Amino acid sequence: MRNKVSVVGSGNVGATAAHWIASKELADVVLIDILEGIPQGKGLDLLQAMPIEKRDSHITGTNDYKDTANSDIVVITAGIPRKPGMSRDDLLNTNYNIMKSVVTEVVKYSPNCILIIVSNPLDAMAQTAYKLSGFPRNRVIGMAGVLDSARFRTFIADELQVSVENVTAFVLGGHGDTMVPLPRYSTVAGIPITELIEPSRLAAIVQRTRDGGAEIVKYLKTGSAFYAPSAAATEMVEAILKDKKKILPCAAYLDGEYGIKGLYVGVPVKLGSKGIEQIIQIKLTADEQAALNKSAEAVKELVGVIGV
Ligand code: NAI
Ligand code: 2OP
Repeated sequence: MRNKVSVVGSGNVGATAAHWIASKELADVVLIDILEGIPQGKGLDLLQAMPIEKRDSHITGTNDYKDTANSDIVVITAGIPRKPGMSRDDLLNTNYNIMKSVVTEVVKYSPNCILIIVSNPLDAMAQTAYKLSGFPRNRVIGMAGVLDSARFRTFIADELQVSVENVTAFVLGGHGDTMVPLPRYSTVAGIPITELIEPSRLAAIVQRTRDGGAEIVKYLKTGSAFYAPSAAATEMVEAILKDKKKILPCAAYLDGEYGIKGLYVGVPVKLGSKGIEQIIQIKLTADEQAALNKSAEAVKELVGVIGV
């Protein structure tokens, strides 16, 4: 049977995610939005690219959640993005209300799906989706760590003039200014980057990673990044649909892991057909754990505002 992925929000991230998913022939894709005509137009346009791409993915656009019924995965990108000067947290109340209405509809038609949340502020939106869906925690996953790690990997590869394929990196914590890039667990062909990049350069790369989203917002002025974010969500979709058991940093609901309870925070997880199949616990130094705790506190504050 063919896989079905619905993407809620047909804006920059949603439409580009549909593009990646269809062009990798991972699934048939349903694009949905509140705006009439936008998902239909983008869906049809993308469908007409398939003969050129030599892919048989079917893409449709709709405003009706009935068309999303029985999706294997629903990627939620609905919401407003930030503008220059705004933090992800400034989006909280607007996107909370959008997330509430979206999750109610998604769950009605796809009660067994896996939710991948993209809307910001990411960790608080993932927590909202988890609480409102009533799904078990393995089926509600936030996308942030894959993106933040990809940014870290890009900057490391550029610094050392090596292939991005040689670089693995981990960024944990909430998707915000307090995110926690982990140089000790980041390597180039297995060599820790702490042995390859001198401390002050490494500190600058870590900071650029933390500011990675804002750097792009500053250029775009009217919105935020979407190519890398949608590619990151697609990597998660692929890991799940192909049951790859891939270890990726994702926002997961922690129930005591890393000493954090009742909160979505970015940690390494194993992604397979059941969604989050394992939360991987790595040993952190006291400083790394303190940074993770600080990041979790920032998420807790936001979650407290919306009461989820
Ligand atoms: P966009 O403005 O291009 O698209 C958002 C779409 O959501 C619009 O088409 C809008 O009509 C739609 N929408 C709004 N309310 C809706 C509703 N109730 N039901 C269905 N659709 C609705 O924004 P973009 O750039 O695609 O970003 C989407 C969200 O993803 C933002 O909140 C942004 O901050 C977040 N984001 C998160 C990232 C992460 O790492 N987690 C990375 C990039 C973006
Ligand atoms: C980013 O990091 C806006 O969260 C989005 O680009």
